[in-house]
Amino acid sequence: MNILAISGSLRKDSYNSALLQAMKSCSPIEVDITIFDGLADIPPFNPDIEACNEPKVMALKNLLAESNGLFISSPEYAHGISGVLKNALDWLVSGEEFVCMPVAIFNTSPRASHAVRSLHEIIRTMSGNIIDEACITVPLLSSNLTPEGILNNNAMSESIRTAINAFLLETARKNEMAE
Ligand SMILES: Cc1cc2nc3c(=O)[nH]c(=O)nc-3n(C[C@H](O)[C@H](O)[C@H](O)COP(=O)(O)O)c2cc1C
Repeated sequence: MNILAISGSLRKDSYNSALLQAMKSCSPIEVDITIFDGLADIPPFNPDIEACNEPKVMALKNLLAESNGLFISSPEYAHGISGVLKNALDWLVSGEEFVCMPVAIFNTSPRASHAVRSLHEIIRTMSGNIIDEACITVPLLSSNLTPEGILNNNAMSESIRTAINAFLLETARKNEMAE
């Protein structure tokens, strides 16, 4: 299974990016997680411009088309998701890559409830298939934990592994039901 993972933070020591890195490091052998590193290069969304004329947007769309699942982890800024993440998602709204895509949404701050709620609404509106069983909050805010530190924390590591397994199980179950 190929999973594309997008962190909504551009910060070097981002907790959201660290969480996705930790997930990549502990994912089962049959799962390949690609962490998208081009968010800062996505141009401002403009409906007058065709996505096919924007190479950075096409790179994202192609990665998504090659994936069977999407992980998203976003910081909350002023009660919303990060602008760079929303900008990238806006480019994907009209494409077919997103439709029925299994998506897990992660949160690294228990107090950041607005952004995570908004992200659920956005993904549902884009016809993504949110796998609720895999959506977790890992309380990393102010922890100073690196990806290695996250994996060395038993409770966090267990929670992450359970979320990945739930994502795989639920995705397989829904695929079987659709056949
Ligand atoms: C400009 C700005 C606005 C923020 N607004 C909120 C907010 O509304 N609610 C909240 O819970 N945290 C808020 N935060 C805290 C961030 O969500 C938090 O620092 C988070 O860890 C950033 O994600 P990152 O570590 O992946 O970069 C804000 C931080 C910044 C810099």
